[in-house]
Amino acid sequence: MASFNTIAGCVLASALFAMVVGKVSNAVVHPHKLDKPALAVTDEAPAATGAAPAAIEIPPIGPKLAGANVEAGKALFQKQCFSCHTVDKGGANKVGPNLWGVVNRAKASHAGFSYSSVMTAKGGAWNYEDIDHLIFKPTAYMRGTKMAFAGLPKEQDRADVIAYLRTMADTPAPLP
Ligand code: HEC
Repeated sequence: MASFNTIAGCVLASALFAMVVGKVSNAVVHPHKLDKPALAVTDEAPAATGAAPAAIEIPPIGPKLAGANVEAGKALFQKQCFSCHTVDKGGANKVGPNLWGVVNRAKASHAGFSYSSVMTAKGGAWNYEDIDHLIFKPTAYMRGTKMAFAGLPKEQDRADVIAYLRTMADTPAPLP
C-alpha cells in the first residue's frame, strides 16, 4: 500500500508537471491580441485625390506671336481695352494705366496710376506670357485686381492683341 508520502509526492509532481507544461506552451504559442482588425472596414469616404487645379492652364502664347495679326489686334484693342486703357505714347491713364511700351515694362510701374495692392505685390515685368495670363482672365491671374475685364478666351484674339501691344513701344521687344 502506497504511503501517504508517496501519494503526496505524486500529486506534487503532477502539479509541478502541469505548471511547467503550461509555461512552456504559453511560451511557444504566444497568444497575442491584434490591436486592429487585420481587415479594416470603414465607412469613411476615400481621401480626395489629385491636387487642386492650377488657377490658369493655357499653352504658351510665345510661339503664336510671329504669325499673329497686328491689325486685328488693334481693332480688338479698340473694342475691348480702349474703354479703360490708352496705348499711345504719353497717353493719359483712364480706369486703367496707359499701356505704351507695356511689354517688358515693370508691373504696376506707370507713373500717376494707383494700382491695386495685388498688382503692386506681383513683381517682375510684363513678359508675353504674363500679359497672356492677365488678359485670359484677370481675376484668375490676380485675385483682387482692379482690372474688371472678363477676359479674352480665344487664343488667337490674345495673340493678336499682344502682337499689337508689342508694336506700341519706342523699340518693340524681340519676338520669342
Ligand atoms: C474695365 C476696365 C479695363 C478693361 C476693359 C481692360 N483693363 Fe487692363 N487694367 C485695368 C485696370 C484698372 C488695371 C490696373 C489693375 C490693378 O491695379 O489691379 C489694368 C491693368 C492692365 C495691365 C497691367 C499694366 C501695368 O502697368 O502693370 C495690362 C497689361 C492690361 N491691363 C492690359 C489690358 C488689355 C490688353 C485689355 C484688353 C484686352 C485690358 N487691359 C482691358 C482696367 C481694364
